[in-house]
Amino acid sequence: MQFASRLDNVETSAIRELFKLLGTPGIISFAGGFPDSAMFDVEGLKEASAKALDEEPGAALQYGATEGYEPLRTQLAALMQGKGIEVAPSGLIVTTGSQQALDLLGKTLISPGDKVIVEGPTFLATIQCFRLYGAQVISAPIDAHGVKTDELEKLIAEHQPKFVYLIPTFGNPSGATLPLERRKKVLELAVKYQTLVVEDDPYGDLYFGEAPPPSIMALAKDVPGSRELIAYCGSLSKVLSPGLRIGWMIAPAELLAKATMCKQFSDAHTSTFAQATAAQYLKSGRMPDTLANVRKVYGERARTMGAALKRELGDAIEFTQPGGGLFFWARLTGANGKLADANVLAKKAIEQLVAFVPGAPFFAEKPDLATLRLSFATANLEKIEEGIARLGKAL
Ligand SMILES: Cc1ncc(COP(=O)(O)O)c(C=O)c1O
Repeated sequence: MQFASRLDNVETSAIRELFKLLGTPGIISFAGGFPDSAMFDVEGLKEASAKALDEEPGAALQYGATEGYEPLRTQLAALMQGKGIEVAPSGLIVTTGSQQALDLLGKTLISPGDKVIVEGPTFLATIQCFRLYGAQVISAPIDAHGVKTDELEKLIAEHQPKFVYLIPTFGNPSGATLPLERRKKVLELAVKYQTLVVEDDPYGDLYFGEAPPPSIMALAKDVPGSRELIAYCGSLSKVLSPGLRIGWMIAPAELLAKATMCKQFSDAHTSTFAQATAAQYLKSGRMPDTLANVRKVYGERARTMGAALKRELGDAIEFTQPGGGLFFWARLTGANGKLADANVLAKKAIEQLVAFVPGAPFFAEKPDLATLRLSFATANLEKIEEGIARLGKAL
């Protein structure tokens, strides 16, 4: 077969190879990026889907508008307003997961050879998706508080990117949250360099203690001229259900129109049944309890994992305790002759029946081989303790 040349830029992820081993019996996996299936509000979703079929069977089962199902757009606009983002229902489109929003951004904005700046590390599928459209993906370094804005400025000035893509709240894989001042700085940079900034925010609602700072888009009202330079991607995947495939995008009108046109050729619209179900669910008023529950359960798991890592790996590992999201991002120090290469540790860990993802593939450039990502979302407290103890033995 002769495949399109755009595929030359993209490899299947190294992580996939590791995932093949996850079927090994008895393995405890911290490798996935999934929420816990046991946390899904099955009752609430059953009611919502039944209501969708009872009250609006025609709409829920018929073809629908590419922009999204109106009642859901209205609910999502209200959700966003609750987070300080002023948006009308017509100012957002529903996407098939936020992954599709990223794909539409790639499709509408990237010509071969264009430069895009992302965080180093960032969400692997984003790197792959942007490369598929021919982007040169440039990595802006992060610290424990997300992207370093001075470095970001230097890179923007040097490369004049088509856009900057950030996951500023409980990043994947970094777990890091950009502080208020840096968020404002990002907005100032958008204005100063007239650069579009894409804010990907699937984890913002998943905080364990204090709420994170307002989203970059919510802060745009404080920085004149910035709102028209921000695109925002949201998702119900991590808090409600990824199988619903409900995401959304808010963007300047011109960009939203082009993205809608591309979506039309891609999947015509997001499943109307899923959209009607999501709309009923949001209308039912169950979301606050669902959020309180996931915050509590994942918060306990994150605290347990942090304490176990300290106890079992000591100075062989460094990390910042995440305040939300699904991930620990950690770095092997190599102290006392322990392993400093996460790929080597990943293989040894599998022998000990515990899995995590090495960090290198999350870097678009200059991978840091000592880094790793551990998800605390899907294992219960006992499994977390046991899994981290096994990791300690693998070191
Ligand atoms: C940062 C980030 N963006 C987007 C996605 C895609 O999520 P979905 O398409 O399920 O909304 C994920 C999923 O892991 C993610 O971590």
